[in-house]
Parts: sequence; structure tokens; C-alpha cells
Amino acid sequence: MSIIAVGSAKASPGVTSLSVGLGQSWEPTTGRPAVLVEADGDGGTLAARFGLASTPSLVELSGTARHELTISRLQASCQPLAGQLPALVAPGCGETTTRILSHLAKRLSDGLGHLDEIDAVIDVGRVRLDSPAAELIKGCDLLLLVVQPRFEQLVPLVHQARRVLSLEIPTALVCVGDRPYPPTEMAKASQLNLLGVMAHEPRVTEALVGGFPATQRHRRLLLWRTLTELVHRIHSRMEAAAGNREAA
Ligand SMILES: Nc1ncnc2c1ncn2[C@@H]1O[C@H](COP(=O)(O)OP(=O)(O)OP(=O)(O)O)[C@@H](O)[C@H]1O
Ligand SMILES: [Mg+2]
Repeated sequence: MSIIAVGSAKASPGVTSLSVGLGQSWEPTTGRPAVLVEADGDGGTLAARFGLASTPSLVELSGTARHELTISRLQASCQPLAGQLPALVAPGCGETTTRILSHLAKRLSDGLGHLDEIDAVIDVGRVRLDSPAAELIKGCDLLLLVVQPRFEQLVPLVHQARRVLSLEIPTALVCVGDRPYPPTEMAKASQLNLLGVMAHEPRVTEALVGGFPATQRHRRLLLWRTLTELVHRIHSRMEAAAGNREAA
């Protein structure tokens, strides 16, 4: 199991959209199934945005908290997003989500880590290392800090990058769009590795609601090409890390 946490330093740069897009592109690109977990302490948006029900959700999973996290318990709390991707949604209310995560996050992080047959993309919303979702961030294999390459997002990014790097959380930068600042400049200023760019796509939600394209022609759209490329790069990093662990 690889756990990829996706979060932001500030503003709303596209964390949820990127998480959904990575989750949808994961299995077609890597051959391994993925689950999308919504763990945004400000409350969930997946259910409302993608026409899912309010249950099952993190609430139902937290009801099984005394039991070991198995793939079937996880799947029983998920809903199919765009008919394809199992998604564990958060309640829309931030206070409720934060309360649930305060006793579920550590167990969820440990439990996901033990599920060999599936990888997880976790939308952690704004990265707050003193929040309950921090357990999921500290337990991840890779944290993606998402930013739009704009001047006002640079200073919060630089501060957040410093904090996560000081805690030795493996972190990479993903830019949503490549204007007005070059993503390489954002990476240089924040001292993060630039994983890549998710294409700026004004109709991103409509595209994601349709799910991963069934035809080659639609997969050639820039949005899906950039998402597939990001998944390739994450997967290569995970495989290299696993290889290094075996060699050690
Ligand atoms: N790749 C993209 N290209 C263009 N617009 C995008 C892209 N990704 C997201 N957006 C837009 O940015 C806005 C915020 O997107 P999203 O909800 O994914 O961000 P977020 O960082 O999760 O926000 P929040 O902090 O509210 O959870 C939405 O209007 C969405 O359509
Ligand atoms: Mg979000």
C-alpha cells in the first residue's frame, strides 16, 4: 500500500480536484486499485460535488473503530465516485469531520499501511500539523503540496514547506497550471522537488465527473495527460523507495 496525502498551504488551489484526478488515473496507469479518502478537517465536498450520498462516510468507518481495518470494512464505507473510484467521503461539517478524525486518523493511517492490495490518495485539505489529520500526513509515503503558481501563494508555501521538511515528511510540489510564475521558480523558492503540473482546466469538475476516459482520444486531453504523468512519477518514486528499502 502506498499512501499519498494531498494538501495545500493556503487558499483553495485544487487539492480536491487533484486528489480525485490522481485517484481516477491510478489504476489505469499503475494496474493497482486505489481508494480516495477525504480527510479535510474543514469538511468534505466530494459528496456534494460528485452527487454522492452523505452516507456511508468516515462516520460509518469510525463506528468500526475497535476492529482491525480490513479491505472489506474499508470498502463497506466507500461509495463509487463517477462509477469507478471507491471514495470514503467526509461529512460536510468541518467540526464533525475534525471530531471523527481525532480518534480515527491514527488508526486509519496504520490500517491503510497494512492493506497491501490497494493504494490510497488522501485529501487532507489545508495542511495543519497540529490537527487530527496530521496523523495521516505523518504516516504517508508522499505528501503533495498543491499550489497555484501565484505570488500570493508563495509565502505560505515557503513556510509550510519548511515545516514539513523539518519533520522529514517526504514532500513534493504540484502546481495547478503553470502561470503566471514558472513552477520551477515555486519549487526553487520552497526548496521542494517539483513533481509536476496538473493542467489548468476551467471545466475540471465536469471532466472529473465523467471519470477516467474510456477512449484514447479523450485521454489525450491535457488534463488527463498531466494527471497520468503525475501518477507515473509518484509510482516510480514509490517503487524506487521500496527497492531502496529492500536493498538496505
Ligand atoms: N486544474 C484546475 N484547473 C482550473 N481550475 C481548477 C483546477 N483544479 C481546481 N480548480 C478550481 O479551483 C477551485 C477549487 O478547487 P478544489 O475544490 O479542487 O480546491 P481545494 O484546494 O480542494 O479547495 P478547498 O480548500 O476549498 O478544499 C474550484 O472552482 C475548481 O474548479
Ligand atoms: Mg478541497
